[in-house]
Amino acid sequence: MPKRILVINGHPDTREERLCSGLTKAYVDAAAAAGHDVRRIDVGALSFPLLVRFEEFQTPIDNADIRKAQADILWAQHLVFIHPLWLGSTPAMLKAFLERVACGGFGFDSGTAGNPKRALSGKSARLIVTMGMPALAFRVIFGGYGERAFERGILRLSGVWPVRKSYFGAVELSERHRERCLATVRRLAGAGR
Ligand SMILES: Cc1cc2nc3c(=O)[nH]c(=O)nc-3n(C[C@H](O)[C@H](O)[C@H](O)COP(=O)(O)O)c2cc1C
Repeated sequence: MPKRILVINGHPDTREERLCSGLTKAYVDAAAAAGHDVRRIDVGALSFPLLVRFEEFQTPIDNADIRKAQADILWAQHLVFIHPLWLGSTPAMLKAFLERVACGGFGFDSGTAGNPKRALSGKSARLIVTMGMPALAFRVIFGGYGERAFERGILRLSGVWPVRKSYFGAVELSERHRERCLATVRRLAGAGR
């Protein structure tokens, strides 16, 4: 079944030579070739202010890039986030983007009064994470903590489920290893997963 898929490249650096750029292009191209309806956001190409005050969090944001991102998220059935692991978690710019998207009670709002709205129920997600350390070390030694916060504290509280994860470790190892990562992403995209 063709799906409406939104691919979000969460790398602040959108240059082609970044692996996350390559993975994003590979996912978008393979998903479109398989008949899925695909949209793409490159967080590093957006312009939005950092969220500073609690009152701003309660107010719908008047920013064209964020408004469009919110519309794309509502449109999508499947959300794909691609980002590098930076200091054990998402790059700050991706987190800042998510904080801004959540303004005004939009879906990612995890319920500031302890009452999550789960406004994005019915959508699934995949987190594709690149990292310098071996993926097994991130899973076992670090317990995948940064991604668990993203998965449980943001996506699942918003009703997004299931949230699947693909960790690509030791990405500086060799060009051949990177090619294997790209091939895995093309397979996932073709299946709309
Ligand atoms: C600021 C910064 C922090 C990083 N922190 C980690 C880390 O905590 N764990 C890790 O395994 N790799 C870490 N790395 C390595 C990146 O994850 C790796 O360079 C990236 O996944 C490669 O993908 P890219 O080509 O798309 O940038 C860090 C890199 C940078 C620049």
